[in-house]
Amino acid sequence: MAEVVIAREAGACFGVERALEMVREAARASEGRVYTLGPLIHNPVVISELAELGVQVTEDISEVPVGSTLVLRTHGVTPDVEESAHAAGLEVLDATCPFVKRAHRAAARLAQEGYQVLVVGEHGHAEAEGTCGHAAGAQVVASAAEACALEHMRKAGVVVQTTMSTKTLREVMGELVERAGELRLINTICDATAGHQDACAELAREVDVVVVVGGKNSANTRHLVEVACRHCANVHHIERPEELEAAWFAQVGRIGITAGASTPQRHIEAVQAAIEKLTD
Ligand code: F3S
Repeated sequence: MAEVVIAREAGACFGVERALEMVREAARASEGRVYTLGPLIHNPVVISELAELGVQVTEDISEVPVGSTLVLRTHGVTPDVEESAHAAGLEVLDATCPFVKRAHRAAARLAQEGYQVLVVGEHGHAEAEGTCGHAAGAQVVASAAEACALEHMRKAGVVVQTTMSTKTLREVMGELVERAGELRLINTICDATAGHQDACAELAREVDVVVVVGGKNSANTRHLVEVACRHCANVHHIERPEELEAAWFAQVGRIGITAGASTPQRHIEAVQAAIEKLTD
């Protein structure tokens, strides 16, 4: 039987655990009048579990009945969105991760101090877009190639989507050095992201196969896949144990499991049990 090893840091982070607890508590207290603005976290399995508690997902504040609770998710929102929710007569429950709030404050401060604010992050990602909303004129920079295309700036101030890889940040900063008279970085990659990525690299070097558990729409989970692929030739990204295939584990000695920051511990344990059954 193959040995199954779990990364020393994997799965649900502080921000996700906190948000889930806030939403479950709100669902218990308000008997089903709870809506999240977009999926609370990027994990479809957890979102279906919340739906069973009566928590509904909306993309449009105007569709939420007056007096309901609207939860702002871990990724955070722009100040305009929060104001619209209050103006619509909703009870606002702010589950934005405190690390994301830190990025918002950093971006706002840099803009006030006259920096051109750049958010190293993914285009269209809720967190990166939300952070831009806290700093006038801010823009997302997703890669070194995009940084390379920027005009020269007198003062450039950089903050980072909390779930970005340090590799991308290094590459972008390498280009920006030549494009700004003054360059300031406030590194807002969160501890959980950095810790998960380090532990993933360590694990991937020591095993024959890596299974990454988490939403296919989760940025931090996809970054774990990238990290694992740099150190191991056999990497599989799954959301549920049913996606595992026995063929992945034929003739292998050690199997590693890691998981994104929105994957609860019990999902990791379910995947571990399923792998042990397949390789028994
Ligand atoms: Fe917060 Fe980092 Fe998790 S920003 S939600 S602790 S991945």
